[in-house]
Formats: sequence, C-alpha cells, structure tokens
Amino acid sequence: MKVKIKKILNKKNKRKIVCLTSYSKSISKILDKYCDLILVGDSLANVLYGNKTTHELKLQTMINHAKSVTLGAKKPLVVVDMPKGSYTRPKQAVQNAKKILKETKCDAIKIENNPHNLNIVKAFTKSKINVMGHIGFTPQFKKKFKVEGKNKIEQKNLLKNAKKIEEAGAFSIVLECIEKKTAQKITKCLKIPTIGIGSSNMCDGQILVTDDMLGLSGFYPKFVKKYANLQKTIDNAIKQFDKEVKLNKFPQGKNSF
Ligand code: KIV
Repeated sequence: MKVKIKKILNKKNKRKIVCLTSYSKSISKILDKYCDLILVGDSLANVLYGNKTTHELKLQTMINHAKSVTLGAKKPLVVVDMPKGSYTRPKQAVQNAKKILKETKCDAIKIENNPHNLNIVKAFTKSKINVMGHIGFTPQFKKKFKVEGKNKIEQKNLLKNAKKIEEAGAFSIVLECIEKKTAQKITKCLKIPTIGIGSSNMCDGQILVTDDMLGLSGFYPKFVKKYANLQKTIDNAIKQFDKEVKLNKFPQGKNSF
C-alpha cells in the first residue's frame, strides 16, 4: 500500500483529516502545505463550467484539471473524481481509472456509490487501484438535494452500504449531507476514515469545495463556512485597475520599460 494512503488511514482516531478540492496548480500549491488530501472534484462542472449538474462532464476534462493539480501538490494525497458514466461496468471503470492515474500521476480515484456499483469498488481493489467511496447525497445519482440518514431505515441502509464499501476495499468514504447521529454511527463502525461534507463534526475528516469556502463560487449552503470573501477582494482589485487605466495612472514608470 502506498505511503500516502497509509498516512491517511493512520490518522483515524488520532487527528482530523484536512481535505479540500482543487482544480488547478495555483490553488493546489497553496493547499499543499495544509491539506492531507486534495480532491479534484467533479464539482468543477458547476463551479468552473457553469453546468447545472455534473452529469455531462467528460473524462478528458477531469484529466486536464487533475494534471494541473498534481503539478502543484507534492505532499497531500491527490484523489480524482471519476465522472458519471466513466465507471458503469467493471472493465471500463478499471480502464478509465488506469488512464486517470497514468496521465495525471494522482494517487487515487473517487466514485459515487449507489446500491448497484459495489462490483466497481471490488474491481478497483482487484486491480490494486486505490478507491475512495462517496455516500449520502451523491449528485451523480440523485436529482433532488436531501439530507440523508434522518430516519432509522435510512440510517440502517447507509451504515450497511458503508460497511460493504469498506469490505470491498475502499480506503476512505466521503459522507455528504448525512445527519449527525448517522454520520457518527458510520464513523464509529468503520475502520477506514470518513470524510464529511455537510455531515457534522462526527466524521474523521472534513472537506469543502475550496471556491465555496473562499467566497468565490457564489454557492453558500448551510454547511459551507465562508473563510474569505474573494469575490469582494477581486472585485476591489479589478475596480482599482479599471479606474487607473481610465485615468492613465497605470502603468507608471516602474511598470514600463
Ligand atoms: O465534487 C466534489 O467536489 C465532491 C466533494 C463535494 C466531496 O465530491
């Protein structure tokens, strides 16, 4: 098993795992110092390309962004999301995952789980491909947003599914928008770390979409804490540039040859 994967596994019950998304070299260079794991999330379809869903995202688009990310990330484990439709059948899934790993030099891949794709996790494990699972609100398979695990039946099903994903060989699981008690139960029952987004502080680690937490995406649901307001910071900088160009105050002598 890769050293970077072991490092993530060893953090369970010791300290919380710090994860964020990145779609480019410039952002991953900044995250490098702080993050244990960087995810090249398929959320880039919404954040960068303005798509309503992640469903139309091409494998090649993920590869292009992941190539940029791995240039800037040296220390963290880099995980790349497999886009919808790229892991429908075991043979095709393994082929596509190998392509991602080879072309981007990332460490692992992530898939969204549904009740029918456990065989895909098993196929990755058999091919020695490090795979991260994803349960709860899984945007590739669910049309409407809903917090999951709020009743006993949902809790039982999520727990059963999480255990099966662990048994199938995943090294970690993202819990997206899962109710606190259910997230706590899953985290306690699994040996592998759970990474929460909108799933309380009961998980082994946390992930947010970086553009959301930096106040750049314009998407701020309840579970996002805005750590900065880059939209405003950038707006102020562009406003200043606009003014100085129009008043012929930029460029000055020091910016000219
Ligand atoms: O695509 C993504 O950014 C994700 C995170 C929200 C976990 O899957």
